Amino acid sequence: MAIRLGDTAPDFTAQTTQGEISFHEWLGDSWGVLFSHPKDFTPVCTTELGYVASIKSEFDKRNVKVIGLSVDPVESHVEWEKDIEETQGTAVNFPMIGDPDRTVADLYDMIHPNANDTLTVRSVFVIGADKKVKLTITYPASTGRNFDEILRVIDSLQLTANKKVATPANWQYGGDVIIVPAVSNEEAKELFPDGWNEVKPYLRVTKQPA
Ligand code: BEZ
Repeated sequence: MAIRLGDTAPDFTAQTTQGEISFHEWLGDSWGVLFSHPKDFTPVCTTELGYVASIKSEFDKRNVKVIGLSVDPVESHVEWEKDIEETQGTAVNFPMIGDPDRTVADLYDMIHPNANDTLTVRSVFVIGADKKVKLTITYPASTGRNFDEILRVIDSLQLTANKKVATPANWQYGGDVIIVPAVSNEEAKELFPDGWNEVKPYLRVTKQPA
């Protein structure tokens, strides 16, 4: 069954390149990004994993743990990681789930049979500290993902969770934000002492809180 926003991220135990993990326990109090790629030793995936490894500190800064998955076994991931380091210049520094029996892929509906009946698509799940699914994205096999966009969404999600603001179209970190409709003007006066621009009663724009 498809996983929807707000669902609890299904828990599982799996073998990874960093040993066996129990997903929820491994997440602990962190946010998480679980992402799948179609197959080891393929070109687009090689660039994606190298790029994610190169920006791991950005995920760390946001208290987000990253974990990859494909339906290849862990031994294959380990061999492939040598190529990723050689060609992309960064060693893979996060765990990769080996899922040859597709347990996790099926749990997260990562195989879309009308696209390919055996390989996972490029799924992304962002999971909050409360273990709820905050974002799902599905890319086709031939299109590498924009991981800077995933960081941007995480920034937006964390601002909403911590500061009660939403982010407008094409928002970038540091840009103006929107006070969420659930916050009354009374509460907003406490939360945003520097005020806001009331474009409409439902569109209250303010500086991004620190
Ligand atoms: C790739 O990662 O390059 C790839 C994987 C499956 C199909 C097409 C491209």
